[in-house]
Amino acid sequence: MRKIKVRLGKRSYDIAVCSNEITRLGSVVKKLKIGTDAIVITNSTIKRLFGSKVKKSLESAGFSVNIKIVPDSETAKSETRCIELLNYLSKSDGSRKKLFIVALGGGVVGDLAGFVASIYRRGIPYIQVPTTLLAQVDSAIGGKVAIDLKVGKNLAGSFYQPRLVFSDTGLLRTLGKKDLASGMAEVIKYGIIKSPPLFKFLEKNYKKVLRGDKRSLQYIVGVASAIKANIVAKDEYDGKNVRVILNLGHTIGHAIEAAAQYKKSYSHGQAVALGMIAASRISMQLGLLDKSAYSRIKKLIKNAGLPSVIKGLDTGNIFSAQEHDKKFIHGKNRFVLPVKIGKVVVKEGIPRSLIKDSIASLL
Ligand SMILES: NC(=O)c1ccc[n+]([C@@H]2O[C@H](COP(=O)([O-])OP(=O)(O)OC[C@H]3O[C@@H](n4cnc5c(N)ncnc54)[C@H](O)[C@@H]3O)[C@@H](O)[C@H]2O)c1
Ligand SMILES: [Zn+2]
Repeated sequence: MRKIKVRLGKRSYDIAVCSNEITRLGSVVKKLKIGTDAIVITNSTIKRLFGSKVKKSLESAGFSVNIKIVPDSETAKSETRCIELLNYLSKSDGSRKKLFIVALGGGVVGDLAGFVASIYRRGIPYIQVPTTLLAQVDSAIGGKVAIDLKVGKNLAGSFYQPRLVFSDTGLLRTLGKKDLASGMAEVIKYGIIKSPPLFKFLEKNYKKVLRGDKRSLQYIVGVASAIKANIVAKDEYDGKNVRVILNLGHTIGHAIEAAAQYKKSYSHGQAVALGMIAASRISMQLGLLDKSAYSRIKKLIKNAGLPSVIKGLDTGNIFSAQEHDKKFIHGKNRFVLPVKIGKVVVKEGIPRSLIKDSIASLL
């Protein structure tokens, strides 16, 4: 078990990266002294796969365990589910109890359970047990927790750090191809923003990763987690222009997700992959990125089973969704642009013609 520290003073915690060690969860949690009664929040798919193992492990470490199921889709990150969970917690609570939450699932469960933990009784401890690649390398780390509002995703949220992230890569074996590739997009992102060795590893070993090879998965989850932990430690509340680099590919990625929302045709990672190609193209056209690096990025994205062209979407819709997104960042567009493998810069006010061209080039 490799332990990576997220250094945030009093709010520091470990990311435990392991493979097939879910039976040790209870004993690792026990050492944290965060409570006596575990409320495991998960969905029915994940409960069927890992529910009893997680319950057993926690019970054998002396915790009482209750499992609460939420729907298996983004719709779980809703006001309705949030209030339902708060009421469930209040009913499960008592003077002799000390509740803590275990978020067992992908980013959806993690965001919802973490948000509920942040507001129930003004905050109770929670731990993340991420079960998707995306959650292990990204969403479970860093304390951004949220639910969606009708007008947009993640609009009600807080910064609330978990007390532990327990990433067992063995849990990823049952993940579908699309979800594995979706997580790969974020891993490729870490390579581009910070780590040439990670990028090279992926170029060489992408087939192994997609096959679920144990050593490869542990390596990439470890490296990616360490990069995210470092970035979060420097900018916990996303106000110092450090954490922003994690948004590589997300400006146009979000616009693609928004334009595709009714068809659900693009997963987050697929949209981010396309967004990273678009951002790389903008960077190349600004003379910041050379063509060979652009080609390597595009090739790795393709090899990882991610799309490099858009199908079935209107570029006009994508562009206007991107314009709409701007209202949340003081009316200026802001792009994270790769300048070489392992380094990015942040630029505002990119000309609209360049953005349009980069979207059009994805067709
Ligand atoms: N908080 C953050 O910093 C942050 C960062 C990125 C994304 N997110 C959020 O994460 C969410 C997306 O997360 P996601 O991609 O993990 O999706 P998800 O949570 O919907 O999981 C994807 C699918 O995989 C299934 N699944 C999960 N683990 C499985 C396993 N081990 N085996 C088989 N099936 C499994 C789930 O039931 C679901 O159907 C979005 O809501 C996004 O906003 C948050
Ligand atoms: Zn993302």
